[in-house]
Amino acid sequence: MIPKVSFFKQKIGTSIEKVLLDEQPHTLFDPARYILSLGGKRLRPILTLMAVDLFGKEVDAAVNPALAIEIFHNFSLLHDDLMDQADMRRGSPTVHKKWNANSAILSGDAMVIEAYQYIARVPPEFLPEIINLFSTTAMEICKGQQYDMDFEQRLDVSEAEYIEMIRLKTAVLIGCALKIGAIMAKASAIDADALYAYGINMGLAFQLKDDLLDVYGDPKTFGKKIGGDIVSNKKTFLLIKALKNANQHQKEELHRWLSATDFDPEAKIRFVKNIYDELNLKFISENLIEKYYLASLDCLSSINVSDDRKKDLIDLSEHLMHREK
Ligand code: IPE
Ligand code: IPE
Ligand code: MG
Ligand code: MG
Ligand code: MG
Repeated sequence: MIPKVSFFKQKIGTSIEKVLLDEQPHTLFDPARYILSLGGKRLRPILTLMAVDLFGKEVDAAVNPALAIEIFHNFSLLHDDLMDQADMRRGSPTVHKKWNANSAILSGDAMVIEAYQYIARVPPEFLPEIINLFSTTAMEICKGQQYDMDFEQRLDVSEAEYIEMIRLKTAVLIGCALKIGAIMAKASAIDADALYAYGINMGLAFQLKDDLLDVYGDPKTFGKKIGGDIVSNKKTFLLIKALKNANQHQKEELHRWLSATDFDPEAKIRFVKNIYDELNLKFISENLIEKYYLASLDCLSSINVSDDRKKDLIDLSEHLMHREK
């Protein structure tokens, strides 16, 4: 691991232990403390601190908004797992499985409110811009999540629609995490926007990789059940490409599985994965990930700080491209 990333991850880990500590009723806050304690990569808050560090500033003042982003991210996972009917997260049962759907909803709501409390702690001079960015981002994530759900019911989702959907549901929060760091470091507006664009491209690569791992990952390392996207007809890049590139016979079979209501999930996963393999879609998807990775580096290169300072971010993006979890 990159030393600076480990250092920032530890910093976030220590502060996150204090989030919602001792709040009552425990039935409302236990699920929030549970999901936050399961860890995860802590990518977004790390990025906020790395953004501040990129501009050579002291990171401690940015821990509060970094926590806000991580709390918000974890809230979105509670609702996302309920919407996606996912049983496993970070190698443990999801909140709606361990408790119930109402807990995932209400504890999630409480986490959004807590996230805003942490945002409110940024120095007043930065507050208007940061709160506006954070709220715009939060609303975009709702839009992305709704597209994600809507697309389950459609067969004609285009690649462009998919990219826009993942930009909204995933990439904007990564861009926001970075831009908040840039704002706190008093970077120029041009640099802050370039860093945001870097985050968008990194976020697109990140979600493409997540979709790939949902099919090809190892559940023990990935921490989530494999094949969930296939079972629920998620219009991932893989499925969109499969629907487009399949021959007549493959297309008919694929449509049959996509419209089936009573089926063996494992058989469906096996079948669809086999089509992906036949169409070489893992490779095609990896190429697209590489394309967004390179685009992200382009955005980073325009930022007005020495190459030396950019090295940790470059290493982190590279590391994420090859991640297995
Ligand atoms: C999961 O995010 C949701 C996506 C946007 C794919 P992460 O992969 O960052 O999950 P954690 O926080 O590391 O568990
Ligand atoms: C997650 O997309 C996006 C958000 C949580 C906003 P996914 O549904 O693919 O995320 P995972 O795979 O459940 O982590
Ligand atoms: Mg999900
Ligand atoms: Mg989802
Ligand atoms: Mg996923």
